Amino acid sequence: MNIRFDFVMHWIFAIVWALLAISGFAMAGAKYGWIVNFDYVTADYVHRLAAAIFVVITLISIFYEIYRAMKNDTKYLAWFIIGKSGYQLFTFVTSLILIVTGILIWVHEGIGMAGMGFALFIHEYVSYIALASVIWHIYKKCHVLLPLKKAEGKKTNKQGGKADAAKDLG
Ligand code: HEM
Ligand code: HEM
Repeated sequence: MNIRFDFVMHWIFAIVWALLAISGFAMAGAKYGWIVNFDYVTADYVHRLAAAIFVVITLISIFYEIYRAMKNDTKYLAWFIIGKSGYQLFTFVTSLILIVTGILIWVHEGIGMAGMGFALFIHEYVSYIALASVIWHIYKKCHVLLPLKKAEGKKTNKQGGKADAAKDLG
């Protein structure tokens, strides 16, 4: 079996992203605290641990793209989380903003109360924009989560495959 690097990276990124979103929004204010049953301490630990993994994944992706550029490899990686255009570029930019503001909040030395408030503001509102985009993304691509429908698609149509399964789903 040939498992693609971009596919593996996408799903690790998606899991870590979900952990960051759940723990992050739970901390964003009392109105979302119910997400973690108001256990902000656990949410904070989960958020910081997932954030460290998130930074490592993003760095690996950047180094991989640099390596590909050096090898003149221009092949489009459909599952890759960063890229030069479209949703890949959007994810790249929002991830960098969340990392920079996240580090500022985490370290918070020398930025003062105003700097801290600004970093928290940007971190929270970029998270809302990123969450809306992820919901849209999952809506557009959710056919890949339906293996049963895919199998049905193969049964009823000799050609089968992902494209046919997607067509069957409308
Ligand atoms: C249940 C959740 C998810 C599903 C079902 C899903 C599905 C997919 C699929 C099928 C692709 C391949 C696109 C193609 O072949 O055209 C893809 C690519 C991609 N996914 Fe996800 N994804 C999920 C979660 C996420 C999350 C949380 C992120 C993080 C922001 C993300 C970011 C991306 C990016 C940047 C790409 C490459 C750009 C693109 O081709 O659209 N995905 N996803
Ligand atoms: C998908 C990525 C991320 C999302 C959706 C996200 C979301 C959030 C949200 C909504 C908050 C609450 C903000 C507030 O209270 O106003 C938060 C807090 C925080 N985030 Fe993130 N974040 C992400 C990535 C990161 C990264 C990469 C880092 C660090 C490098 C980070 C570090 C922090 C820190 C230190 C806090 C404050 C925690 C506390 O109050 O003790 N986040 N995040």
